[in-house]
Order: sequence, then C-alpha cells, then structure tokens
Amino acid sequence: MKKRYTLEQKHWDAPVGHAMPEHSRVPASFSIGNVRIAPATVLAPMAGVTDTVFRRFIKNASLFTPNADLSTTVEAQTTNQQSGCGLIMTEFTSADGLSRMRESKRKRYLTYYDDEHPISAQLFGSNPGTLADSARIVQDAGFDLVDLNLGCPAKRVVACNGGSGLLRDLPLIEVIFKAVRAAVTIPFTVKFRMGWNDSNIVCVELARLAEACGLNAVALHARTREDGYTGQARWEYIAAVKDAVRIPVIGNGDIRTPEDAAAMVDATRCDAVMIGRAAPSNPWIFRQIAQYTATKEASGVGSYDIPTDMDRYRMIRTYFQMLVDEIALEEAAEATRAAELTEAGQIAARARHRDAVGKMKQFASWFTHGIPGGSTLRKQIFEAISGPAVLDAVEAFFANPAKPAAIGLRETVLHEDVLHEAILQAT
Ligand SMILES: Cc1cc2nc3c(=O)[nH]c(=O)nc-3n(C[C@H](O)[C@H](O)[C@H](O)COP(=O)(O)O)c2cc1C
Repeated sequence: MKKRYTLEQKHWDAPVGHAMPEHSRVPASFSIGNVRIAPATVLAPMAGVTDTVFRRFIKNASLFTPNADLSTTVEAQTTNQQSGCGLIMTEFTSADGLSRMRESKRKRYLTYYDDEHPISAQLFGSNPGTLADSARIVQDAGFDLVDLNLGCPAKRVVACNGGSGLLRDLPLIEVIFKAVRAAVTIPFTVKFRMGWNDSNIVCVELARLAEACGLNAVALHARTREDGYTGQARWEYIAAVKDAVRIPVIGNGDIRTPEDAAAMVDATRCDAVMIGRAAPSNPWIFRQIAQYTATKEASGVGSYDIPTDMDRYRMIRTYFQMLVDEIALEEAAEATRAAELTEAGQIAARARHRDAVGKMKQFASWFTHGIPGGSTLRKQIFEAISGPAVLDAVEAFFANPAKPAAIGLRETVLHEDVLHEAILQAT
C-alpha cells in the first residue's frame, strides 16, 4: 500500500519554518509572456479546492496595504487593491471532457469572475489534438494563460496517460507542447513533477524542451510521481531547472510560511513561488508573505501578523457566505431554466448543491482546527443539511465564543492529516 505521510515526517510541524535568509525575498513581480504578475506568488491549482469561490476568497484574504500600521491585526481594513497573491489557477480540467462538452456545461467548468485576472486555466490529457482544441476554448473564454498538468499522480489520470503519466514519454510531450503552442497566442505554461521516480528524473530535460517549444514558464513541484506527497520537496531540482532555462521558473513544494517562501527563493533563485496546501489552512499566507517582504525591505527584519480568533471567524463567515451566494446564484439560474431542464439536469443540479454543502463541511474542518471549542463547531456543521444552516451554526458558535486567543500559525497547520485525506479523495 502506498505510504501516507505522517506529521512526524514533515518539517511543517516545526514551530519555525526555514531559517530566515538575510537578503532573499519573494520578487515583487515577474512576467509570463506579456502577462505581468505582481507579486511573484501563485496559488497552486487544487482539484476540489480552487474553484472560483475559493480563488476570490484567497485574493481578498490576501489584500495587503504596504504602508499600514503593522501593529494592527490582519483583520484591519485594507484600502487598496493590492493582493499578496499574484496569480490564481483553476482546478485541473480534462481536455477530453472539455472538448466534448456542451457550451453550457463548459461555462460552468470555466467559470471565473473579472476580479480573478490574471488567471490561468489548467488542462490535463494526453491527446495533442484535444489538448490544442481545449487550449483554444480556454483562450476564447478570456483566460490570461493556459497551463498543462504533467504532475497529477492520481491513478485515474495516469491510467489515461495524463498528468504525471506523461513524464515517461518525452517525445509525446514534445508533440503536445507544439500542438498547444500553435493553437493559442496566450502564454502557455507547464506544471510538472521531477519525473516518474528516482530512476527517471526528467525535470531539467523537460524544462529545456518546454523552452525550445515556445512555452513561457515552467512550474516544478519538486517531487516524483512515486513520492506522492511524502517526504520533503527536493528544492535542489528547482535550482537545477532554473540553471537550465531562461524562461521563468516557478518553485513549488512545502512552502508553509513566509520564511519558507524566502528560503525557496534563496535556495533556488526561482522567479516566483507557488503555494498549495498551506492556502486552505492559512488563507492569509499570501498576505503574510507580502507583509514579510515589505518589512524585511524596510527594516531588514521580516515580520507578519498572526490571525486572531476574530480574524478566523470573519474568514469562515466570509467564505461560507460566498459559497451560499454562489449556490443561490446557481439555483436562480436553474429556476429560470427549470422548464427546459430534463430530469437528468435536475438531478445534476441537486448534486451540485450537495457538493457545495459538502465543500462547506470540508472547509469547516480545515478552518476550525486550533479554535477553542472547534470540535463542537465541526460537529454542528457536519450535522447541518443546507448552506444557510451551516452559516447559522458558525454564527451561533462565534456569538458565544470560547476564550478568544491569538492563534499561532503552528496551531493552524496541525491538520495536515485532514488535508491529506482530501488529497486522497481528490486523486
Ligand atoms: C487537494 C489537492 C488537489 C490538487 N490538485 C491539483 C491539480 O488539479 N493540478 C495540479 O497541477 N496540482 C494539483 N495538486 C498539487 C498542488 O498544486 C501542489 O503542486 C502540491 O500540493 C505541492 O504544493 P504544496 O506543498 O504547496 O501543497 C493538488 C494538491 C492537493 C493537495
């Protein structure tokens, strides 16, 4: 059976992340083709997580006012539109599915709002023609970038030769790169793992191939397919890729804190950092990186705010309200189409509603770890049967809070086992 990582195996459990390198900082900006991304931070694509609601939520939670009084908590009102998260990406979407779907269904898969720009759509698949068609659909839908997934370790994706399955077939990757490149004019990027396993490390060769085929950037999750999510990401391979190409390199793997982000830049000289699992458990991570970078630049010593219970309450409340609003919007659209909806359509609509409530429950368990009395709230949320009922439970819980206390990052990250369960389900 595949090894699951335990908390003991992760350096994430350490109270302080990587040692703070003195001069290194996450760059203020970088460009992928003609798209400028500022700051140089990217929200990683995560199936089942990074839908439009979560992406907008992260952008808002990331708002950062560089000149703000740094003694205020992160709940302080922000007055500018600067987000600590420079680029967001969709969950991966099957190119085969996308090219076969009806227009209305496609729209749902590719939903995004104006305030999400710049935004990249990620595709997976192994058929060059289908991937090229889907890239065109993505471009026509107004996305700023299109990304190819060569990292997904999921059996059902690999079985169709997609995701990390393709890492064993560089000649096919070359055909895909060329087909997609010829199909679109928007910047085209690839996100990949180091290779299938330790006997088949291809990341440097792959990055060179991407550059030669006209791709505009590469993102490396520094693990092999066989690693799954175990052990620690091997950042030295990000450095090796950076040495090998001139196009921007985005580093990914095991960034938990602003210190980690700075340490990755220091160790690899990557052009940007990409953050995945830390974002659902600490949605302020991008804002903290921005704050850490700004304070470090100003005084030489980086610092950032730690969310309080009240910040956490507002965060849960905001995210759930966004989900409830999104469900209401979908329901309204479906009500107007009710007459046209077939029985299958109505069943699908009800399933989507259940999914949204399920998502609230999933997020509730991530968000409420570390909150005094959080287990009571989780129980109430899991028993709720509708979106508004979940909101009521959150409201009632925080109306009579247990002792408020500042929540340190350490407490907010201890539920990796829960996140990992979600990964296993998603893959
Ligand atoms: C629940 C979950 C879903 C994911 N889905 C995708 C995906 O759709 N596409 C992708 O390229 N990577 C996916 N990943 C991998 C992340 O993008 C990222 O590479 C990985 O989590 C390592 O980064 P981290 O250490 O910052 O989490 C997923 C990861 C998780 C935890």
